Amino acid sequence: MSIRLGVLFGRIRLEEKLLIAEALRRGLEVIQIDSRRLVLDLSGDYQFEVLLEREISHSRALYALNLLQNSGVQTINSYEVALVCGDKVATSKALWDAGVPTPEIKVAFTPQSALAAIEELGYPVVLKPVTGSWGRLMAKINDRDAAEAILEHRTQLGSYYHSIFYLQKYLEKPGRDIRAFVAGDETIGAIYRSSAHWITNTARGGQASNCPVTPELNDLCLRAARAVGGGLLAIDLMESPEGLTVHEVNYTPEFRHSVDITGVNIPARMIDYVIQVARGAALPAAS
Ligand SMILES: Nc1ncnc2c1ncn2[C@@H]1O[C@H](COP(=O)(O)OP(=O)(O)O)[C@@H](O)[C@H]1O
Ligand SMILES: [Mg+2]
Repeated sequence: MSIRLGVLFGRIRLEEKLLIAEALRRGLEVIQIDSRRLVLDLSGDYQFEVLLEREISHSRALYALNLLQNSGVQTINSYEVALVCGDKVATSKALWDAGVPTPEIKVAFTPQSALAAIEELGYPVVLKPVTGSWGRLMAKINDRDAAEAILEHRTQLGSYYHSIFYLQKYLEKPGRDIRAFVAGDETIGAIYRSSAHWITNTARGGQASNCPVTPELNDLCLRAARAVGGGLLAIDLMESPEGLTVHEVNYTPEFRHSVDITGVNIPARMIDYVIQVARGAALPAAS
């Protein structure tokens, strides 16, 4: 019997087009689920056994994964993986607990305690939103004047979201970071993202080039993937003076800039993994 694959998205980007085309090419039955039209209930009667989650909105992804996974759909990635990866505090904790090198962080809830935490970490410090991507709303704080100003601004913005202060020591990296793609128990490819700006996301103008997957990089990425629950993941790493360190794990990876550059057919490798999971040959969450 053919595999019935639900693909959940909020918008069809190039990534989703490539994934759907690859799934169809492999004979999977694809059910496209547009989150803008989706209505979920508790009965759990779905037309597919496996779901590939490609939603851009973290909160929509979380609620959909919760209801679908708990109704017996095999979701990629799992609800638990999305919970951890969608929250930078939870990610840092999971990586740290698993012994994966990750930048030191401090978390504070008021501007006063955040200032104390910043001074303890020492300048420069990076303040990040706990949820978010594409390098948005990140601030590099170089001195106390900047710290006071940014903390006051964040406080005045007023939302709950801005009152969780996630602070990380700024790492001197060589004008680039690394984005590596993991499918199950393999690091299938990686890119450097180089920029004259300290924020190197390709969404912010970072230039992608191929990064060889060395045994060291592969090992670290698999440990990071396992630490958050495993699946189809993109691991962000920095080359710090002390060696490679993992600062983020993305659970709905974008890969449009990486296929040509790595020479790896990333969507095909992702669908390989989906098929493995559907056949019970791989766990959606690594143990
Ligand atoms: N502590 C840090 N020191 C130096 N550069 C950093 C640090 N944290 C993040 N960056 C840069 O900012 C980019 C975005 O940070 P990241 O934590 O991955 O947030 P996002 O979820 O927005 O991608 C990283 O890819 C890296 O280039
Ligand atoms: Mg990132």
